[in-house]
Amino acid sequence: MSFERVCGVDDVQVDSPMRVELADQVIALVRDSAGDVFAIGDRCTHGDISLSEGFVEDGTLECWAHGSQFSLCTGWPKSLPAFEPVPVFAVKVEDDAIFIDPTPIYKENN
Ligand code: FES
Repeated sequence: MSFERVCGVDDVQVDSPMRVELADQVIALVRDSAGDVFAIGDRCTHGDISLSEGFVEDGTLECWAHGSQFSLCTGWPKSLPAFEPVPVFAVKVEDDAIFIDPTPIYKENN
């Protein structure tokens, strides 16, 4: 894995997604109220909409356009109209900074 520093933990407001570009990936970065940090593909698979403009709710990131909710853990939509996943990215937090490996991971839907 090849992690790169993207920002400080405090640069990401709780439940307020942040769009970051890393290598050739556009990523929605989320810090939830429990302090966990997630990185998933920023582009909704239903339309060309930035998921980082959406809403964090119950472990998902909801697309503002038509309401599909993408799991922050798996990238899979939990609700229609989207039915294909976005990638997820490995994240680590060290010394109050967030590091992401920009290699996209497509997880099984389970
Ligand atoms: S564009 Fe995202 S759910 Fe339609």
